[in-house]
Order: sequence, then C-alpha cells, then structure tokens
Amino acid sequence: QIYETADEAVKAVAREIADLVRTKAASSEKCVLGLATGVSPIKLYQELVRMHREEGLSFRNVVTFNLDEYLPMPKESEQSYHYFMHHHLFDHIDIDPKNIHIPDGTLQTEEEIEKFCEDYEKAIDAEGGIDLQVLGIGRTGHIGFNEPGSFITSTTRKVYLNDLTIKDAIKDFGSRNLVPTKAITMGVGTIMKARRVVLLAWGEKKAPIIKATVEGRVSDTVPATFLQMHSDVQFVIDESAAGEL
Ligand code: GLP
Repeated sequence: QIYETADEAVKAVAREIADLVRTKAASSEKCVLGLATGVSPIKLYQELVRMHREEGLSFRNVVTFNLDEYLPMPKESEQSYHYFMHHHLFDHIDIDPKNIHIPDGTLQTEEEIEKFCEDYEKAIDAEGGIDLQVLGIGRTGHIGFNEPGSFITSTTRKVYLNDLTIKDAIKDFGSRNLVPTKAITMGVGTIMKARRVVLLAWGEKKAPIIKATVEGRVSDTVPATFLQMHSDVQFVIDESAAGEL
C-alpha cells in the first residue's frame, strides 16, 4: 500500500490497530501486538496516543511484545528501546504495565540471556501468539535486529549488529564507539508466526531495500525477503520509499 505521505499512511494503520483492539475488547479477548522501535513507527504511536486521548481508545486489553533491545543497555538510558517505548507510547496510554514485554538489555551471562530468550518465546505462545506485528526495516534488510545470515526458523536470541546498522545508529549515540555491538531480538521465525504483519517504511533512503525485499529473491542475505512467504503481510510505505519499485 503506497501513500503519498507517512502521515496519511499511519492514520490507516492506527485505524486498523484500533479496530482490532476494540473488536477483541468487545468479546473480552486480549489483543496481542508486536511492536517496533526506530523512527518509522513514531508517528503511528503518536496517532494511537491521539486516539486514546480524543476517541477513548483503551489499551486495557492489549498485551505487547517488543521486537528487540540493545545489549548491553540499561532500561533508564535514553537510547534504550525501553525508554523509547515508554516515551512515545506507554506513558501516554492506559496499558497495564504487566502486559508490556521488552527484551532485557541488562542481562549479563550467556545463561541468563538464553533463559530470557526461551521465556520470551514461551510468553508470546502463552498469550496465544501475536495478532499483529508492526515492523520497520533496516537498510541491511533486517527486521527486528535479524541481520543478514538470520534463518527463517530463528527465534529470540542474542545477535551481533551489522556495520551498516551500527553506522545508522550513530545519530542516536553520538559516536560509533558508543553504539552497542549486540542486541537481543525476536527471530525471523518469531515474526513469521504473527498472524498479520505490517511493515512501515518512509523516505528515499529505504527505497533500495524496499525494492530488494519486495522484488528480490527470498534469501537470508536480505532477511526481510522471508516476509514474501508470510500469508498476511502488508508493506505500508510512502511514495519515496516506493521510488525504486
Ligand atoms: C533498528 C531497529 C529495527 C528498525 C530499524 C529501522 O535497527 N532494531 O527494528 O526497524 O532500526 O529504523 P528506522 O525506522 O529508524 O529507520
């Protein structure tokens, strides 16, 4: 779905999420959302906050699982995805804090990290799986932090960040040596299990990777191409991101 502007596009996605949340609430069901960070979903979260404030959209029945977090990363750091999610969304809506799940960047040992990742997968399954997964896309073709080389069957795990991803993160950290080189991310397989996937991309910088993802051969060199095999996926992009299609 190509929109003239990101503003128009996020309104449509926010409307879909609101409808899903309300439909589930009407039958006393939880709505399980997979959420992303980065610049791409910021306007979507702003629109959801507006709908909460002005249209009474409630998030009491919503359970969220975030895609990823840097490692190491203290929760209170302004660069953390914990901070990002609270700042842009959670602090402004009525979600129950115990329904919020974000990978923990404070874990130290390999054993702790492995156990956390296994439990994260179990927690998603225990909630009945993800109803709708929001995604951004990195210029390496990563979804979450599933960099080139990530398998379609991959699950939540510790990963090493690609050089281009580190370079793109310098704007948030100030200098290259301050950007973490590792992260915890849901796997491609975790994302593929979501019942519906909506990927957001804006601007001409994303045009080459959108072309490779939509029109390229499915392969782990561009992990986002695995989405071509998902049965209910939509790319919601603006005209600049669609520029090379
Ligand atoms: C980070 C996140 C991804 C995100 C990507 C794109 O690497 N881990 O989940 O999709 O950045 O970010 P942006 O939306 O800022 O371009």
